[in-house]
Amino acid sequence: MSDAEAQKRAAGEAAARLVEDGMVVGLGTGSTAAWFVRALAERKLDIIGVPTSAATAELAAGLGIRVAELGGTREIDLTVDGADEIGPGLSLIKGGGAALLREKLVWEASKRCVVIADAAKHVTTLGKFALPIEVVAFGHKTTSLRICDALVEFDIGMSPRLRVRDGQPVRTDGGNLIYDAACGRIAEPAALAFALKSITGVVDHGLFLDLAELALVGTADGVVTLEP
Ligand code: 5RP
Repeated sequence: MSDAEAQKRAAGEAAARLVEDGMVVGLGTGSTAAWFVRALAERKLDIIGVPTSAATAELAAGLGIRVAELGGTREIDLTVDGADEIGPGLSLIKGGGAALLREKLVWEASKRCVVIADAAKHVTTLGKFALPIEVVAFGHKTTSLRICDALVEFDIGMSPRLRVRDGQPVRTDGGNLIYDAACGRIAEPAALAFALKSITGVVDHGLFLDLAELALVGTADGVVTLEP
């Protein structure tokens, strides 16, 4: 196992120890969140999981975790999820796994959100990881031009790129498309988040601001706890 994978695993296992019997738990998406789901399943607690993607729903159900849709159970006590970048104040970039919309819906419906990651994800400024932006398929090229115009206002000159896998546009669980915007440096995350959300055709973006209240970051020296 690589160092990064071991750090993801340690962070996932530390987060699983935060879960208590009887909780409703939001289950994130990605390789780090998968370590959390596995560690949680091993604890054999009486919990209900609310998955943030079809992939996580399949993983959790396969491991014997009872799953419910968002809104299909009582309020979510705790959500644990990975991130592509963890910046100042626990501002985050998410969506590398194309699950950002369902993730944000679950995060926003949770009493408490904990982000887990390996050390490489902890950065001083957001933006090196290309920002995922989910758009509706209808007119997406026009929407991407409007995104481009918005980015220019923030001195970001790179055009967003449609995410493609095996020669085909990646579709999210909701059937939408993802554009990745290589921002380089996001100096004003909140203003950029607002500008992107204002574009018709943009469903959501991967900036998760003021949502995480704790980060558990796996490092070479063990799991480090960060607060906003
Ligand atoms: C999925 C996400 C993931 O949490 C993010 O991409 C991190 O993934 P990984 O844990 O595999 O590095 O936001 O949409």
